[in-house]
This record gives sequence, C-alpha cells and structure tokens, in this order.
Amino acid sequence: MTSQLDKILYLQWSFSLIGAIALTFIYGTDLSEEFNGLYPNLMALFLLSYLPYTLLKNFLPYKWKKRFLFLNMCAFSTTLTFLLPYDIYFIFFFMPLISILFKSRFYVYTASIFTVISLIILSTIKGQDIVITIIELTLFVCFFILLVFVSRLSSSILQTDFLNKKMIYALIFAIEGKDPYTKGHSIRVAEYAVIIGKQMMQKGYDLNLSELKIIALIHDIGKMYTPYEILVKEGKLTDEEYSTIKEHSENGAVLADRLGYPKHFVTNIRHHHERYDGRGYPQRLAGKEIPLMSRIIALADTYDALTSNRTYRRAFTPDEARRIIMENFGSQFDPLLEPIFEEVYPLFVEKQEEMASNPSLDDQLEDVS
Ligand SMILES: [Fe+2]
Repeated sequence: MTSQLDKILYLQWSFSLIGAIALTFIYGTDLSEEFNGLYPNLMALFLLSYLPYTLLKNFLPYKWKKRFLFLNMCAFSTTLTFLLPYDIYFIFFFMPLISILFKSRFYVYTASIFTVISLIILSTIKGQDIVITIIELTLFVCFFILLVFVSRLSSSILQTDFLNKKMIYALIFAIEGKDPYTKGHSIRVAEYAVIIGKQMMQKGYDLNLSELKIIALIHDIGKMYTPYEILVKEGKLTDEEYSTIKEHSENGAVLADRLGYPKHFVTNIRHHHERYDGRGYPQRLAGKEIPLMSRIIALADTYDALTSNRTYRRAFTPDEARRIIMENFGSQFDPLLEPIFEEVYPLFVEKQEEMASNPSLDDQLEDVS
C-alpha cells in the first residue's frame, strides 16, 4: 500500500526527472560556456537530489521520515536556486505548496518561514534591488494567505473523510459483531469487488472504485435488523426465517438512505441479492435492470460465502467455489462477468490468503475513501 510520504516522494522524483529531461533539451541547443559548466552540476542535482531520503526511508521511524523528507526538499530547493544562473526565487514558493501534502500545518508554516528567510538571504547575497525583493515578499504573503485557506479546506476534508471511515467501521462492527461466522465478510467482499472493478476498468468500463468499495463494505448493513437467533441459527431455516433474512437488502437500503448515502449507493445495496435470471430479491430485477455494482457485489459476496465456514456447512475450497460460480453465469450471475471472473480468480485466491494471514481491520480499511 502506498503511503502518503511515498506519494510525495514520487512527486518530487517526477519534478526532478522532468527537470533533468528539460535540462537535456536546453543543453542540446545552448552550448554557451556559462551553461556548459553548470550542466553536470544541475544534472547531478536533479538525478541525485532525493537519493538520501529514498535510501534511508526504510530505516527511519515514521516521525523522522517526514522530517527527513522535508529537509531533503529544503536542501534541493536551496541548492537549485544557488546553482541556476537566473534569479528564480519562485522555486521556494513550491515548498509550502508541497508541504500541504504532509497533512500537518507545522510543515506548511515551517516551509513558509524557510521561504521568506531564503528569499531575503538570496536577494542579499546576489545583490538584488531591494524593490524587487519587497515585491517578491509581498507576492509571497498573498500566496501564503491563499495557501492557508487551501490548507484549512483540505484538513476539513480530511476530517470528514476520517469521520466517514469511522462510521463505516461502526457499521461493520455492528453487522459482524452479531454473527461470528460472518466476521471479516464485508471487508473480503469489498476487496474482491475492487479486484473485479479494476479488471473491468482495464477493459474500458467506467467505474468508481472508491464508491464500489464503500458500497461493498456496507452492503449487508440491513442485517442489523435481523434477529440474532436467525443469524446464528444452526441447521435449516424455516420459510418464515428465510423471509426475514431476505429483508436485509431492503432494510439496508432504507438505512443507507437515512444515513445520507447517495441514491446510487442505496440502489446498489437494495439489489445486491438480485439474480441475473430475475429470480432474486427484493424486486426480482433481471439482466441489465440490476445496477452494475450490485451485479459485481453479488459475485464477490457469493465467492466469499462459499469459501467461508457456515453453521450448516464447511467452507468450500477456492477451486470448488470457482466451479460452482462458473456453473451459474447466465442464471445467478451476469455472463458479462464470466471472462472477468476467470481472469481475476488467481487474484481472489491470493487476496484470500493475504487477508487470512493479516486480519487487521485497521490495515484493510486504510484506503476506504
Ligand atoms: Fe447480503
């Protein structure tokens, strides 16, 4: 799983490599003596600048990783400004901007102070006209005010994200806490659904994977209304009990609606037990009448149900589950998903083993939204 710091590092490396490529183009057309002397130094800076952090990142504790990456960024910007033959102090403006990605105002403020100090020191060393320095500092203050707004906005978005994740946690605990046999079911279904979704996107289907993941995570929230005795009953259910269980898809949709989830979330939850041949529930929709995400979740849901122990039967092996599912394309499942399921089946097995060895809910929910 890619961490936020890794994303920042990739971004920095991308900037550096673009710089190196741009430099090669400029060098190809500008063979002046002044530039010839600078070329190796600048190229070395672009290509080696983020090596210190890249090499050490796996040995540093998380807190120090952040600080070290930040120092690496400062060192890169300063060296670049010193090496360039032009007065491009605006390079420092990027520092506070990139610092937003650290998700801490401390880095935004530190980078801003660093920028102001660097602007003053550099303009003094290079003997820049004081008027230009004042103009640059004024521009920076305007830029900084804008940045603080963006930073506050992004932290409020993060806070909302965090609360949404917590709500999803709470819902999953509430559903699965009632029935030990379905522990981890929602998370596994979400993982399988995303595997299918990714494969479909590679084939040109338009899908929102984050939404698919959340819908799959909460697809069974309606089970909160199902009586405990029915959920954990050993042996065959009576017709009445089975009817009560079947109410969970409609109940889940109503609850998701009350919780404020968008309409298409509600619809996909409602129809996750429909069958392609129209014999499912609650509305006996058939074929393409069933929303696409519901069809995907139905497949992921069945694979997990088959490969999990139940009160009334042992778990099927992945191969047995695969065979059962393959026999049901066109009846229970959308035949469109048949070739996709065949392609992703090895990934299902891999994911299943990975999750069995690492059942931490925290890890698996990290990138819910
Ligand atoms: Fe369900």
